This record gives sequence, structure tokens and C-alpha cells, in this order.
Amino acid sequence: MSIFVRSNFNNWYRMAYNLLKGKKGIIFGALDEKSIAWKTAEIIRQEGGEFVLTNAPIAMRLGKISELAEKTGSEIIPADATSVPDLENLVSKSVEVLGGKLDFILHSIGMSPNVRKGKPYGDLNYEWMLKSMDISAISFHKVMQTAEKLDAMNEWGSIIALSYIAAQRTYPDYSDMAQAKAMLESIARSYGERFGQLKNVRVNTISQSPTMTRAGRGVGGFDAFLKFAKKMSPLGNASAEECANYITIMFSDFTRMVTMQNLMHDGGFSNSGMTQEMISQLMEQ
Ligand SMILES: NC(=O)c1ccc[n+]([C@@H]2O[C@H](COP(=O)([O-])OP(=O)(O)OC[C@H]3O[C@@H](n4cnc5c(N)ncnc54)[C@H](O)[C@@H]3O)[C@@H](O)[C@H]2O)c1
Repeated sequence: MSIFVRSNFNNWYRMAYNLLKGKKGIIFGALDEKSIAWKTAEIIRQEGGEFVLTNAPIAMRLGKISELAEKTGSEIIPADATSVPDLENLVSKSVEVLGGKLDFILHSIGMSPNVRKGKPYGDLNYEWMLKSMDISAISFHKVMQTAEKLDAMNEWGSIIALSYIAAQRTYPDYSDMAQAKAMLESIARSYGERFGQLKNVRVNTISQSPTMTRAGRGVGGFDAFLKFAKKMSPLGNASAEECANYITIMFSDFTRMVTMQNLMHDGGFSNSGMTQEMISQLMEQ
């Protein structure tokens, strides 16, 4: 049965279908209301799912996660996603708090000190590069290894991380995050193979359009990324809310046989060589 619920975005009404009724999970990475993870938490709740929210202890102080927790009736358990002891605490406590094993995990985490501090690609700080890899990619492996070791996933669970097309093509100023995303997608394939065999758990990445969030804004020339991608995408750029809808479907039972994929959620950008809009614009110059 479906019901109408009030969405918090532009006062739109959206239909809720109870797609995630009875499902439990962990959502990483909700920092503020623009975060993809924030929008996803709201939609998952509307669809009947329950979850624990988590973020790095430092982000707790900067962000507004307690507002989201209150709104969605969720608990917050802080964890630095690069720390295995933090993750063990998070996963075991989440199973306790939710009263059962997990059906979904959203990894919505990314950070590069080189990008944040504007280091040119020809002058990378390698300590920082290792940090970029650890936070933005290896943490995904750590999350899954912890979930496996604690036997915290239910059969037919679903795990998603967020990626960007810079894993396949170069974009100036995306810097070492391109390598981090390539590794993230590779980890999804390797762990997807393992978790599928072990527990029928599926693991995928969603490659999202450029989106105006705190992480997005940190990339140099981000406004130009947004405009270019919009012109090169027949459907335009996918919003954070649309990404949240896609993640929700990926956590539902309608996608049980999709695994080890990098799923493009980009309005067609990744398959566009050229668009009429771009031709028209260049012809004018
Ligand atoms: N915004 C975009 O244009 C875009 C496009 C494609 C993919 N993505 C990806 O989407 C994901 C979410 O980013 P967003 O755009 O919602 O931005 P965001 O800034 O709202 O979210 C990034 C999150 O990562 C968290 N984080 C950073 N270091 C952490 C750590 N050590 N432990 C735990 N959490 C940590 C931050 O606190 C923050 O909540 C990221 O993987 C990002 O790369 C973003």
C-alpha cells in the first residue's frame, strides 16, 4: 500500500511505497541538509527503513546531524571511518540498537586533504594522498570487513558507496580523488564477489552527477563542472534527492540481483559524446 507523505524539499508531496519496511541499516556521511546521505536518510525513513546515523567525531561538531536524528527517530553513533575499532563499536552497537542484523549500509564519505588545501596535481603531498585513499576508498573495505567479521549483515543485504566519473576520465582539480574513486569502485567489485558468495549480499557504487554539497564545493572550478555536466547530460544533472531515490531502490528487494556494478546516475552524461546544446553554444562563439 502506498501513502502520500510531505517531503521536506520544496514542499513537494511524494508517494511513499513502504519499500524498505522492516529493513535496518547504517548511514555514513550526513553532514548537513545538502548532503546526499542526509536526503537518503529522509527518504529511507519515509519508505519505512530504520537506521543508525554515523559520521566522524569532528563532523559531529561542524554538522547538524542531531537535527536529522531527531527528525528520523534515529540514534547517532560517531565513528571515524578509517578507524577499525570505531567501526567495530559502530557495527556492534547498531545491531544492538536496531534489534537485529543489517540489511543496508550507505558509505557516503569523501575527503582529500590535497583537494581541500588546493595542492596542484604536480605537487601532491603523499601523506595527504594516503589519507585521501584511506578516508575515501579503503574505509569502504574496512566497513565491509568489519560487517563480515561481526556477522552483522542479513542475507540479501545491500551495500552502496558513492562514486564520481573522475574514476574513468580526468577532470582538472579533482586531483587524487580520481584515484580514490577508482579504488573505491574496484573494492566494490572485489568485496561484491566475496559478500555475494558468503551471504548473498550485493555491493555496488553509484556514480553521481556533480552535486552542490560541502564535498562538491571543495573541488576547484566546481560551478563550471556543474554547468558543463548539465549541458552534456540529456536529462540534466541528477540532484541529491534523485540520488537518494536511486539508493533507496538499490536497498529495496527490487534490485536483489544487481551486484559488483558501478551504476551511472548522471542524466546520461557518461554516454554523451556531444549534445545539441553544446554544439549550439560552441557555434555561437
Ligand atoms: N557532491 C558531488 O558532486 C559528488 C558527486 C559524485 C559523488 N559524490 C560523493 O558522494 C559522497 C558524499 O558526499 P556529499 O557530496 O554528500 O558531501 P558531504 O560533504 O555532505 O559528505 C561527505 C561526508 O564525508 C564525511 N567524512 C569525511 N571524513 C570522514 C571520516 N574520516 N569518517 C567518517 N566520515 C567522514 C564528512 O563528514 C561528510 O559527512 C562522497 O563519497 C562524494 O565523493 C559527490
